[in-house]
Amino acid sequence: MSQVRFRQALSGLPAYVAGKGEAGKVVKLSSNELPFAPAPQVIQAGEGALAAVNRYPNAIGSALVEKLAAHFGLEENQVVVGPGSIQVLANALTAVAQAGNNVIYPWRSFEAYPILVGITGASSRQIPLNNQGSHDLPAILEAVDADTAAVILCSPNNPTGPSLSALQVRQFLEDLPQTVLTVLDEAYFEFDTSPGHVDGAALLADFPNLLVLRTFSKAYGLAGLRCGYGLTSPQVAAAIGKVATPFGLSGVAEACALAALAAEEIMRQQVAKICQERERVVGKLRENGWSIPQAGGNFIWFAGQVGAEIQSVALSQGIQSRGFPEGVRVTIGNRTENDQFLAAISGIKPR
Ligand SMILES: Cc1ncc(COP(=O)(O)O)c(C=O)c1O
Repeated sequence: MSQVRFRQALSGLPAYVAGKGEAGKVVKLSSNELPFAPAPQVIQAGEGALAAVNRYPNAIGSALVEKLAAHFGLEENQVVVGPGSIQVLANALTAVAQAGNNVIYPWRSFEAYPILVGITGASSRQIPLNNQGSHDLPAILEAVDADTAAVILCSPNNPTGPSLSALQVRQFLEDLPQTVLTVLDEAYFEFDTSPGHVDGAALLADFPNLLVLRTFSKAYGLAGLRCGYGLTSPQVAAAIGKVATPFGLSGVAEACALAALAAEEIMRQQVAKICQERERVVGKLRENGWSIPQAGGNFIWFAGQVGAEIQSVALSQGIQSRGFPEGVRVTIGNRTENDQFLAAISGIKPR
């Protein structure tokens, strides 16, 4: 039987491995989600929008674009929204990269990067993290050549946790050719309390090749809704708009995101609780002798082979974490969940 001919680029793509765990049955600390249910006004807004789903949504999420532009003091033509920041990233890469190009990013970092780069036909240049689990920015710069279409930075870095400083990123952008798109993935921005950390939105005025990615999935606790956004220059936003699927953002997602933005205070309170828990957990672990890198997001990282042991011991107590060859990532949950995790690994020798 003859077979459909698929693009060569598909043959080497890694599969995305989602954090395992069935809510309610296990303690799910594997996907960097928020442990809180959505606020009543967000649910109400979603129900309202659900009643009108016989109609198509706005093609480009105009109401949300307008609100986000006002929120960040940007023009509306500098904001793009989509079904998750992953999709905004996929669109941006589609707009700049193809076979013959390369895209550079730190590794280990967010596991969607190699997949999204591979889909474009471009090759991935993965630059190892330094021994603090942070980006090796000089090595990333050194890897740039005439075929580099984009560089991706992730701050705070998933899965290791450290964030970049504003000074580091400004210097990096000054040293990089402005023809190279720089994506600054700030999916965990709202959890970052480290002094001097980068805020991509504040750099946009000086760097038209910068795309800042943010999401409603993490701090706003709406991972299942699929809503993320990009802040950038009008030129980059227009290119992303050309490749974006029309009606990509559902009306329900747009309505909920608008309600979540309007209730920003709730997000701030919930994020503050998670950060407080993160400091408590990291403090306890370090006190006990564990070496934990700076944790800028809603998760912590145990580097090295002990990761596999932590993952399996935690799982034996019903706690899901996310293991990688380089270590294990554990999401900060509510206090009870975090205590369960700490108790579960209390028999493992700290390192
Ligand atoms: C660094 C990073 N970027 C993006 C995402 C995905 O965001 P979204 O749900 O908006 O697609 C994640 C989710 O785990 C992430 O860790």
